[in-house]
Amino acid sequence: MKKKIFIVVILILLICLVGITIKCINKEDKINFKENITINIGDKVPTIKKYTPIKYQEKTQDIEISWKDMNLEDEKIYNVGIYRGTFIYKKEKYNVKLTVKDNKAPIIEGVNNIEIFIDDKVDFYKNIKITDDSKDEISKKIVGEYDLSKKGEYNLKYVIKDKSNTTEKEFKLIVKEKPVVQKPETIPEATNNKQVPKTTSKGYTVEQKNGAYYINGILVANKSYSLSNTYNPGGLLSVFMNNYNNMNNDAKNQGINLRIISGFRSYDKQKTLYNNYVARDGKIAADRYSARAGHSEHQTGLAADINSLEQSWENTKEGKWLNDNCYKYGFIIRYPKGKESITGYMFEPWHIRYVGVEVATALYNNGNWLTLEEYLGIDSKY
Ligand code: DAL
Ligand code: ZN
Repeated sequence: MKKKIFIVVILILLICLVGITIKCINKEDKINFKENITINIGDKVPTIKKYTPIKYQEKTQDIEISWKDMNLEDEKIYNVGIYRGTFIYKKEKYNVKLTVKDNKAPIIEGVNNIEIFIDDKVDFYKNIKITDDSKDEISKKIVGEYDLSKKGEYNLKYVIKDKSNTTEKEFKLIVKEKPVVQKPETIPEATNNKQVPKTTSKGYTVEQKNGAYYINGILVANKSYSLSNTYNPGGLLSVFMNNYNNMNNDAKNQGINLRIISGFRSYDKQKTLYNNYVARDGKIAADRYSARAGHSEHQTGLAADINSLEQSWENTKEGKWLNDNCYKYGFIIRYPKGKESITGYMFEPWHIRYVGVEVATALYNNGNWLTLEEYLGIDSKY
């Protein structure tokens, strides 16, 4: 009996041993690995070292996984996605699924409010730096409404996306009215270099001497004919003053009071005067009543303004007397009424110019004043 029990126990032990052995032999052909692996962008591709055959738990095995469609640059993965891999172990083929995730959103730097003027072009990305840990395509968008043709402050935002994440950053687009650019007025100065004809349309020869033009012996200063900046007789010339004094005495005897309110003006004085008028009224307006430096008759020492700078002064008894009598003393009303297109200046009933009795009488033209320009056949244009 005892012998029988011993045999049964031995048999049971043998059966167990065979069972365990079979189990172990079966396990030998299997491998312990995860079928689904998830890693983050920038992580190294999984190595097989982590996946050890069960039978040899104590050892690691280098088994190549062949990954499909994977960019294995630097053995790191920079593109999100799902990749399939396979490896062969002991003639068995195994499949692995790798999910590459990106949990870092793109970074946008350099965001500031943008200021532009109406209708200017705007480059939203000029100072912007966008970085991302993935090599996936980044999409960039400006979200919000704006109108570059209208003044306003527009609330906008950058929306930057990689395949998995979105970064948003708000900013203001400020569209401003275009500033009126105050151009610094450059005052053209007389150079005497301007090309003027050698002969006028009336056949007079144009001569240039000592920084001034002379036509038929008459010194000419107008918009076309300039005086050099060194031309400076120092005051009203004696030929002017002598004839003026005669005229003034005769006028006085007839109850007419004349006085010079502006006589000689130097080049620099004229420059200041003209600049002030430009600052006050603008260049276009100033050019209608004030000469640029080097173009004023006041610099010749042969011209002066009498009594008033109001056009209505022509209707006063002094204004009428001057208009009707000045030619007798060799003076002309230099800028007659209705002749602005010829002289280049508006009517100035007060501005007289000494040219000598002969020329003055011709220009007086029985009360229907001609201009020096018409008389000599010249232009007055800048
Ligand atoms: N008013 C005259 C044109 C001048 O400035 O000389
Ligand atoms: Zn004047």
